[in-house]
Amino acid sequence: MTVAEIELVAEHRLALQSMLGDDLVLTDVDAMIRYCRDWHGDVTSGAVAVLRPRSTEDVAAAVRACRQLGLAIVPQGGNTGLVLGALPDAPDHQVVLTLERMNRIRKIDAEDFSATVEAGCILWDVKEAISEKGMFFPLALGAQGSCRIGGNVSTNAGGINVLRYGMTRELVLGLEVVLPDGTVFDGLSTLRKDNRGIDLKQLFVGAEGTLGIITAVSVKLTPYPDQVATALLGLASLEDAIGLYRRARRECCDLMSAFEFMPPLAFTLAREAMPDLPIPISDEYPAYVLMEISGSGLVDVDDLMQRFLEGVMSDGMVLDGTIAASQSQARNLWLIREGMNEGQAKRGAHMRSDISVPLSQLASFVHDAEKAIEQELSDCLCVSYGHVGDGNVHLNVLPPGGLSPDERATRIYRSKNVLNAVVDRYHGSISAEHGIGRLKRGDFDARLPETHRRLLTAIKRAIDPDLLMNPGSQLNFQAES
Ligand code: FAD
Ligand code: LAC
Ligand code: ZN
Repeated sequence: MTVAEIELVAEHRLALQSMLGDDLVLTDVDAMIRYCRDWHGDVTSGAVAVLRPRSTEDVAAAVRACRQLGLAIVPQGGNTGLVLGALPDAPDHQVVLTLERMNRIRKIDAEDFSATVEAGCILWDVKEAISEKGMFFPLALGAQGSCRIGGNVSTNAGGINVLRYGMTRELVLGLEVVLPDGTVFDGLSTLRKDNRGIDLKQLFVGAEGTLGIITAVSVKLTPYPDQVATALLGLASLEDAIGLYRRARRECCDLMSAFEFMPPLAFTLAREAMPDLPIPISDEYPAYVLMEISGSGLVDVDDLMQRFLEGVMSDGMVLDGTIAASQSQARNLWLIREGMNEGQAKRGAHMRSDISVPLSQLASFVHDAEKAIEQELSDCLCVSYGHVGDGNVHLNVLPPGGLSPDERATRIYRSKNVLNAVVDRYHGSISAEHGIGRLKRGDFDARLPETHRRLLTAIKRAIDPDLLMNPGSQLNFQAES
């Protein structure tokens, strides 16, 4: 930054403090670091300030202040996003606005099967509070102890229960949003059916903070699934895993709530993150599935799982398996799946992907993509895992140890390009559930059909003509000349 830029940042800090009060405005550089670094620690940035509103009115005041000073706003929830969407990229004229203090549960209505919570509530806290009322909020992902519901809505998060309950979008009933002009869009309805014109709240789901700041969310609830059966299964191939998924959908009465695919390397990675984690199955099989069936009421889920597994094992579709005998055993099985991300993080910077293709093509896609990467980058390791029932795979590429940061970065860049070329051949998506953020902006832009671009630009200009909201994320929008 030049001297003039540094002076301007200092002026802006003072102005924000005088307009909003010291309590809302954090400017200490050390204290700001955690809001300016991504979950993996790959990227560290900076900001003019971190704004910490306590209410919707505070958010509106902060937006008006930033608008007056010409500062752009990067909304932030739990900062667990994997595409650098919540990270400022222009430290001299962007502020981070964290929702972390807006963490009140406004209402849980078991009679209405709905809840209304503030955007800064941690997902796990929401799930716990709802389960205390005998109800269930089905959104579940590895980051649920840190991510916040406004971030989940803004990324339209997926996770492990999508195959039964849908993405976040399908769980949202209403939203309250502070718009870039400082006014409030009050769409906090809990109505299930409402066809009065275009459903405006949908614009903000998956918008990654580019259209406004979500301050509260109404969500759908389901009865608490007090019966859960969890099994870890060893199989001969990904093809068999997909065959098993299709059969499970039919034979388990559509009560399957998770079906995750893992390679044998999952155990090594999970143990690198959690050395004492028990692994209750041999690691000799080429493919593993972590499967869950759940339900409430007049159904015997354990019996269903037992009979299903008897059938698929006697047909040779599943080679080995273990069913969790207690909640803590089930938790340990899930820790293997969750430990994969942490284990990879411990191996240093790597290429992370989030691909979807039609389920019928998933096995051949993974085979082709891994082969292409092995040919181009023979010293790297492919790790393919994920939400196979949704046609969604995280095909990650780990460079070997001992490389310089530049050598690592080159491998990450090359493997991403090799992978994306295969995704394009399969007409797949380069972002199934994580969004675009800053990380995938160029790749998104390069693949965007002209009509999509025209519509996205028109929406952005209608709602945020001055490009106040999270510029640099999703697309490089241009203000109307
Ligand atoms: P942040 O990272 O803070 O923000 C994400 C985006 O939303 C940013 O663009 C930000 O500007 C915007 N934003 C945040 N809050 C608001 C708001 N109130 N109003 C407007 N914009 C806002 N994702 C999945 O989909 N499925 C998974 O299975 C999954 N597993 C994960 C496992 C691990 C270990 C980790 C670290 C991440 C995982 N993620 C997964 C990614 C991440 O957790 C999700 O994207 C999550 O929804 C982000 O929530 P957050 O509160 O952390 O959002
Ligand atoms: C997961 C994240 C990477 O599925 O989306 O673990
Ligand atoms: Zn995922």
